[in-house]
Amino acid sequence: SPSDPDLVERARAAKEKLGDKVFVLGHHYQRDEVIQFADVTGDSFKLARDAAARPEAEYIVFCGVHFMAESADILTSDDQKVVLPDLAAGCSMADMATAEQVAECWDVLTEAGIAEQVVPVSYMNSSADIKAFTGKHGGTICTSSNAKKALEWAFEQGEKVLFLPDQHLGRNTAVRDMGMTLEDCVLYNPHKPNGGLTAEQLRDAKMILWRGHCSVHGRFSLESVEDVRARIPGVNVLVHPECRHEVVAAADYVGSTEYIIKALEAAPAGSKWAIGTELNLVRRLANRFAPEGKEIVFLDKTVCFCSTMNRIDLPHLVWTLESLAEGKLVNRIEVDKETEAFAKLALERMLALP
Ligand code: 13P
Ligand code: SF4
Repeated sequence: SPSDPDLVERARAAKEKLGDKVFVLGHHYQRDEVIQFADVTGDSFKLARDAAARPEAEYIVFCGVHFMAESADILTSDDQKVVLPDLAAGCSMADMATAEQVAECWDVLTEAGIAEQVVPVSYMNSSADIKAFTGKHGGTICTSSNAKKALEWAFEQGEKVLFLPDQHLGRNTAVRDMGMTLEDCVLYNPHKPNGGLTAEQLRDAKMILWRGHCSVHGRFSLESVEDVRARIPGVNVLVHPECRHEVVAAADYVGSTEYIIKALEAAPAGSKWAIGTELNLVRRLANRFAPEGKEIVFLDKTVCFCSTMNRIDLPHLVWTLESLAEGKLVNRIEVDKETEAFAKLALERMLALP
């Protein structure tokens, strides 16, 4: 739906008043009405780097979800303030791994006698606490655009990886990019005693996958791939690596949101694409590339928006920008110093990956 012209004008005026004091970051899954005010857009890796590249901005307004704003706070200087326009914009995947559960898991690995061989690799989509745990135990953060490099690095440091919290990104990267088999991976269920695994299973595994998933990408199915192939002959199926393994195995191409955009930019006129990622992005790409004769459809019509990404809407953005313009700091996301120090270690290991 078109944005309310009144709100558009208010957002524009507040942003102009703030000038260089404010820098607005927008994740690709944000609504059109919000993304039009972003100074930069990107996937979570690009935005983490972009946040750190604006030391002169007093306010970083993060149009995305909570873990992204935390990461921006960790990577920016102490006097820069990171603001999330709606504090309820969390991520159900990040919520699937709590600090207590992960500490308990480490005890289980210690009991099994393997903790010393294990390197944690945590997906960006995790709380600052989980990133701090990762840094403390010699591990790195990864995103969907550098998961392979992160795993290669981790297997130079140790024999096993504990991958948190997205089982699908972990499994897909291990099997597709690292030559591992499904049998090399075990699934650690934080709701079961010992993760539901025996010490022997843990000792035999190369990849210990946390039982977390994305509630949006986890809903694409093998059936959706088969249906779209039947409906649109010659279609290229392109999905995000947060999708389930059988979906990724049946797709033609797999990659992060930035990869998806680049693939479509490079696609020839007349080509047909079914995309398995968040709906705001797919719609925007379909509209952008339609004039070039590229047909882009959503992989499965029963899957919908990421509801927490969508919490950031134009009214919240207007309220945020107008508050800041009046000198009122609202919705600041601030990670405590000790957590920040260890989380930063893990994030910097990621940024140093080749
Ligand atoms: P990327 O931005 O790394 O593609 O991740 C997708 C996602 O789910 C962000 O929440
Ligand atoms: Fe979290 Fe999935 Fe939404 Fe990304 S798309 S914020 S992983 S729930």
